Amino acid sequence: MSKRIYIFDTTLRDGEQTPGVSLNIQEKLEIARQLERLGVDCIEAGFPIASNGDFEAVKAIAQSIRKPVITALARASKQDIDRAWEAIKFAEKPRIHTFLATSDIHMEFKLKMAPQEVKKRAIEAVAYAKSLSPKVEIEFSPEDGTRTRPEFLYEVLEGVIAAGADVVNIPDTVGYSTPGEYGAFIAGIKRNVPNIDKAVISLHCHNDLGLAVANSLAGIENGALQIECAINGLGERAGNASLEELVMALKTRKNYYDFETNIITEQISRTSGLVSRTTGIHIQPNKAVVGANAFAHESGIHQHGVLNNRLTYEIMTPESVGLKKNLMVLGKHSGRHAFEERLNELGYSDLSHEEINKAFIKFKDLADKKKTVSDGDIEAIITEDIHQI
Ligand code: KIV
Ligand code: ZN
Repeated sequence: MSKRIYIFDTTLRDGEQTPGVSLNIQEKLEIARQLERLGVDCIEAGFPIASNGDFEAVKAIAQSIRKPVITALARASKQDIDRAWEAIKFAEKPRIHTFLATSDIHMEFKLKMAPQEVKKRAIEAVAYAKSLSPKVEIEFSPEDGTRTRPEFLYEVLEGVIAAGADVVNIPDTVGYSTPGEYGAFIAGIKRNVPNIDKAVISLHCHNDLGLAVANSLAGIENGALQIECAINGLGERAGNASLEELVMALKTRKNYYDFETNIITEQISRTSGLVSRTTGIHIQPNKAVVGANAFAHESGIHQHGVLNNRLTYEIMTPESVGLKKNLMVLGKHSGRHAFEERLNELGYSDLSHEEINKAFIKFKDLADKKKTVSDGDIEAIITEDIHQI
């Protein structure tokens, strides 16, 4: 039987840390409703101590979104944890996500704390958060986890799990890992933390080297069950692992990975569009899965193949991510098959062979001058040049 992977969406927390992005309560609620429709298992709604607005947004989400787990972020301090709990205590399934850096560089230059103090603080924070309610789940993240000395990380993880952590999340905070390395890191945690089976291992990969999705896939191949990710790959700096890429990789390559998620993939385009419009962060056209070109074919060879059998150049269908159809972009590389198909779609199925030939020559002339030829251009060719004949 396929293993179930839990999708933890952090669009509203790490995603909101995208430079230039700030969402109000209504915007966060609207995105949260759509994430619920999409079928995510967990929504990280925000960082309540960060501002009153974020506190209110997390609270509103906790009060109205029922299916997914609702998570609030908190540093490993009583004040942060209390504020997070105040915001999420009405949730059907509340989770506090507390974090503390464990790498030497962060402990020395940011926290100015000795390793044993860090370990003690992490354990105390988890125990305190767990004591707030029998229904609250606790997630702990050793920030900069992948640059932490493994032996120290194992000690911290063993301690926080004993203190009640239900989920231990291993962040590649600065996106430094490579897939083989990150996979081996997760395998090392599974082997060396004695009580690891009492907690779910989670992954949180940043995309500084463009490896966030690949690293996450390597992590689940080595025993992790939760992936943290964001719509359109939003997040601090180069962003987080992109939800849509991960989910479609698992779905499209099920024959290889044999993992399942609860995501209703037909909701992906709608979710991506909503997040892009609301945050004002445009999606690059060649972005996998949700970019405008993800299901567009331009060259004649590709168009001919797809018109005969879509599987020649499409590994997933546009319908599977919620689009109506693929797109044949007419440009200078396009061939006669796609051109004729577009003429038919535009209602010119009565043209003679000779008229189509003439129109095709005109179209190629125009395509040499323009990047793409629009439906309006084709109509102009037919009405001005062909029907004149
Ligand atoms: O990247 C990171 O380390 C984080 C933690 C708060 C999980 O976002
Ligand atoms: Zn992060």
